[in-house]
Amino acid sequence: MTRRVDDWADLVPYLLARDGRWHNLATGMPMAHPPVAERVREAFRDAVDHESFATRVGSYHGVLGDPDLRKSLALLYGDRFGLPISAEEVLITPGAQAAFHAVSALTAARGRRVVFFGPEYPGYRTHPEAAYDMLLPDVAELGDREFRYVPPAGRLDEGVGAVIVSRPGNPSGNVIGDEEIAALAAECASAGALLVVDNAYAPVIPGLAFGEMGMPWGDNVMLVQSFSKGALAGERLGFVFAAPPVIEELSELQSRVSTFPAQLVQLAATFLLSDDRYVKLCEQELRGLYAERHRLVRERLDAEVEVPFRLHAVDGGQFQWIHLPELRVPAAELFFTLRDRGVLLAPSTPFYLPHLHEDPHARQSFRIGVTAPVAAIEAGLGIFAEVVNEHA
Ligand SMILES: Cc1ncc(COP(=O)(O)O)c(C=O)c1O
Repeated sequence: MTRRVDDWADLVPYLLARDGRWHNLATGMPMAHPPVAERVREAFRDAVDHESFATRVGSYHGVLGDPDLRKSLALLYGDRFGLPISAEEVLITPGAQAAFHAVSALTAARGRRVVFFGPEYPGYRTHPEAAYDMLLPDVAELGDREFRYVPPAGRLDEGVGAVIVSRPGNPSGNVIGDEEIAALAAECASAGALLVVDNAYAPVIPGLAFGEMGMPWGDNVMLVQSFSKGALAGERLGFVFAAPPVIEELSELQSRVSTFPAQLVQLAATFLLSDDRYVKLCEQELRGLYAERHRLVRERLDAEVEVPFRLHAVDGGQFQWIHLPELRVPAAELFFTLRDRGVLLAPSTPFYLPHLHEDPHARQSFRIGVTAPVAAIEAGLGIFAEVVNEHA
C-alpha cells in the first residue's frame, strides 16, 4: 500500500524533530532571537520580584484574565487599528489554541458548521462533535512565479456558525486584504456567523506581516491573538478581542475548562507592554529576521527548482507555500521520498478536508517553514529541488 500523509496527525510526530536526522522545514517552531528572549526574561524577573507575586501565584483569580493586562492590550490594539475596544472586549486565554477549540465547541452546540477556505491551518479542527467544511478560494496568478488565494464571496448560508481564517495565513502566508476581510465579516453577519480571524502572526504582537494591515471589527468578529511567536510559545498566552456577548460565552467555557489563565506570565506580559521595547523588537528586529529567511528560501527555490512552480505571495508569517503544477507524484506520497533523502516538508493534503484532496493545489503543494537554521534551509531546499526536478 502506498504511504501517504493525509492527516495532520500523520505529520505531527515530525514537527518537533530536532535530533539532526533531517533538515526540518516542516516545523512550525518560532524563530529564536536572543534580544527578544532577554526582554522576556527581564519581564519575568520583574514579575517574580513584584510585591503581588505570592498572591498572584498562590490564589484563585477571575476567569477573564488580569485586568491591567486586558486594559493595556485594549489600548495597544485600539490605538494601532482605530478599534473601539476597552478591557470589556478582551479575554486572556491559555494560548490562541484554547480560543479555537472554544469556537468549535460553541459552534457545535449551536448545531452549525465551522467553515474554512483551503488550504488552512489544521489545528482548528479539534472538536469531535463539530462539523467542519471547507471551500476553495479563487486563485489569482501574479506574474510568472506567484499567485494569491482570494476567499470566494457569496458562499455562506445559514448553516454556517463560524468562519476561521489565519491572517497572515498558515500555510499560505496570505494577508486577506482589508476590503475583502470587511466584506467577509459582513457576509458572516448576514448568515448569523462569527468571523474568527487568527492573528497569530499579525501586528502588533508578534508583528510578522510585511505590509500595513487593518483589522476587521463588529459584533460578529472575533480576533484571536497570541504571544507565542513573540518568544512566549512555551508559556501559553493568548487573548481574544470580541464584543462582550462573545467574550461572555467564551469565558463561560474557559471557566469550565481551565478556570482562569495562568498568572505569572500575565504579569510578565504586563511588564513587557509597559514600554515599547518588546513591541519594537518584535515588529522591527524579529520581522527583519523573518523577512531575510523568506528571501533566502525564495532565492534557493529560484536557483534550484527547474520544473514549473508558483509561490503564494508572501505577506507575512513563517511559511512559504509552493505549488508545482506538473508534479507527477502527490505531495502526500513524496513526503516519504523527501524524508528518506533527509529533508522534512509539510505536504499540502493535511491543510485540506478530505473531499478536496484531489484539488491540484491539495495534491501538488508543500509548506516550507522558514524558521529552520540557514544551513538547514540551504541543504534542505537543495534536496527538495533534486527530488521535485526528478518527479515533474
Ligand atoms: C496559524 C496559527 N494559529 C495559532 C497557532 C497557535 O497559537 P498558540 O501557541 O497561541 O496556541 C499557531 C501555531 O503555530 C498557528 O500556526
